[in-house]
Amino acid sequence: MASEARARAGWLRAQIEQHNRHYYVEDRPLISDAEYDRLFQELVALEEAHPELRTTDSPTQRVGATPSDAFEPARHELPMLSLNNAFSPEDVANFDRRVREGLGLETVEYAVEPKFDGLAVSLRYEHGVLTRGATRGDGSQGENVTANLRTVRAIPLRLGTATPPALLEVRGEVLMFKADFASMNAQQRALQEKEFVNPRNAAAGALRQLDPRITASRPLRFFAYGIGVAQAPELPVDSHSRQMDYLAGLGLPVASGRAVVNGVAGLLEYYRDIGARRAALPYDIDGVVYKVNDLAAQQKLGFVSRAPRFSVAHKFPAEEAFTRVLDITVQVGRTGALTPVARLEPVFVGGVTVTNATLHNEDEVRRKDVRIGDRVVVRRAGDVIPEVVRVLVEQRPEQAREFVMPARCPVCDSPVDRAEQEAVSRCTGGLICGAQRKQAILHFASRRAVDIEGLGEKMVDQLVEREWVRTPADLYALTTARLAELDRMGEKSAANLIDAIDRSRHVALARFIHALGIRNVGESTARDLANHFGGLEALMAAPLEELLRVPDVGPVVAQSIVGFFASPQNLAVVQSLAREMRFEAPAPRPAGGGGLAGRIFVLTGTLEQLSREDASLRIQALGGKVSTSVSKKTSYVVVGADPGSKHAKALELGVPILDEAQFLRLLEQP
Ligand code: IVH
Repeated sequence: MASEARARAGWLRAQIEQHNRHYYVEDRPLISDAEYDRLFQELVALEEAHPELRTTDSPTQRVGATPSDAFEPARHELPMLSLNNAFSPEDVANFDRRVREGLGLETVEYAVEPKFDGLAVSLRYEHGVLTRGATRGDGSQGENVTANLRTVRAIPLRLGTATPPALLEVRGEVLMFKADFASMNAQQRALQEKEFVNPRNAAAGALRQLDPRITASRPLRFFAYGIGVAQAPELPVDSHSRQMDYLAGLGLPVASGRAVVNGVAGLLEYYRDIGARRAALPYDIDGVVYKVNDLAAQQKLGFVSRAPRFSVAHKFPAEEAFTRVLDITVQVGRTGALTPVARLEPVFVGGVTVTNATLHNEDEVRRKDVRIGDRVVVRRAGDVIPEVVRVLVEQRPEQAREFVMPARCPVCDSPVDRAEQEAVSRCTGGLICGAQRKQAILHFASRRAVDIEGLGEKMVDQLVEREWVRTPADLYALTTARLAELDRMGEKSAANLIDAIDRSRHVALARFIHALGIRNVGESTARDLANHFGGLEALMAAPLEELLRVPDVGPVVAQSIVGFFASPQNLAVVQSLAREMRFEAPAPRPAGGGGLAGRIFVLTGTLEQLSREDASLRIQALGGKVSTSVSKKTSYVVVGADPGSKHAKALELGVPILDEAQFLRLLEQP
């Protein structure tokens, strides 16, 4: 019995570690979270019944060690060094030149990796078992945080090899994924607890918890990027990249996106490439690291003070910076939404100079407690609009002022309204509001709407300010002579713009509907409306019930549409536009007239003659729509073998059900 339990425990441990590897290292889980939990709980129960089976490398031991008062010091046999930084291509060229001179080579091969923005740690494996985990500390001595690092599931407690090395010290970075950080903060918010500042700080805080159970509850990750001391005959000694391959083979997560390149050109191309992908990466990085790949060459180059000569960190522009809020003003958007904007002392962040940052809405200003005069952290990541991350409340000047949402629109002086459950305040001025007018015209002319090339913001500003254009319809009354009066506008460019305006008269109905900027009507809804009604008049006259028959149109959207056409102002604009435009005929119905337009299908179960994908394509080709959930609006549920709950739902709602043969006949109907 005991031997059976021992065998089962061993099997469970191996399974769990394997699934940890699939999940954390390869990003390719093989089983569901629930299945994983079942394996885990079985092992916990088994070890409770047979405490003698509990080994230090058991996955159950990642949690639950008792809290300690402080961390023991952990000496690093080989110091954990830092890297010199490069900030420009010139810095990189100088680094490469020094390396080439040091080695007497024409070109050098480099191993290149992301520079993780987390915390450096050292993991000591003796005979394959994790025996010590330590922070970097001052480089010679850190803190022994073994109990905490054991809770990090990406760190194997036992190396994945039958022939483990006597000693292997793995170095790498502990960090938190951006998505995990965001959900952790959402949770903190829900609990009205203090939020974490950024993933790096959250990871650092988690790692230094005295109670490992707290660390265990924080979603930490690990990536290896180097080796410290080792007695490992199988460890490659020729190149850094092969050493990383070796670590990967042992089940350690290694720097993802690593590569091997040649010369400065290769380094800079890698930098640009990773830089372009930076915002999309699951974790924060603050640069890339270049390492001479040849280990003998690394030795030859050696160190200056505390940094290696064979390696350099090429930093990205910081995504966060400190600055001051000079004022908080409001901007009026196309739908009249008032957005508070922080006017900032100019600051260089994310590679550009930032002077404004969005504060989203009034609640957000209160939540972050941003006041005029505050010192703040601003963030600009990728192409995202800069935002205020947090306030340095400790440094708040006495005369700092709170923001008050104005009661009247700063552009047209109409009253501002904030609906009960909405976060957004809106100007009620509609098209009499200059700001909304400008935005409405810009939207109307945009590429995905009627597409008037050359009608940009500056031009619209001038046209609206001179009151030549009050609504999109006025665009069609402009003349070349008139436009030529504008600042920096020659005859030629005036004529070009008039041409572009003329060309826009010929437009698909769907684009035109989208161009009207009806609230809650985006491109795809506009397309559905055009398909359903076939003409503008039918849409304008449609009662609520008819709109609700359109796929994906619910009460909110339908109400927006009815509300839009109920306004005499809007009606006048649309009617005068309709006189100017020539709508393209909607896409012809497929030959044979067997249109499925307006019909919504849901597919469930396995079809014999068609794959799901083919069935969907055929429905769409005939103008029908495929939806994934059954509702009263569903026209048909097509039921194949082993149908799921959608079949039951269809029966419940009384939605017509087709078997495969009936469905095929419908597709082939003349
Ligand atoms: S190699 C001999 N590779 O950057 C230097 N470091 O300033 C060994 N870091 O404390 C470091 N990503 O925490 C290396 N791919 C990477 C890295 C990396 C992040 C951190 C590390 C170190 C600091 C160096």
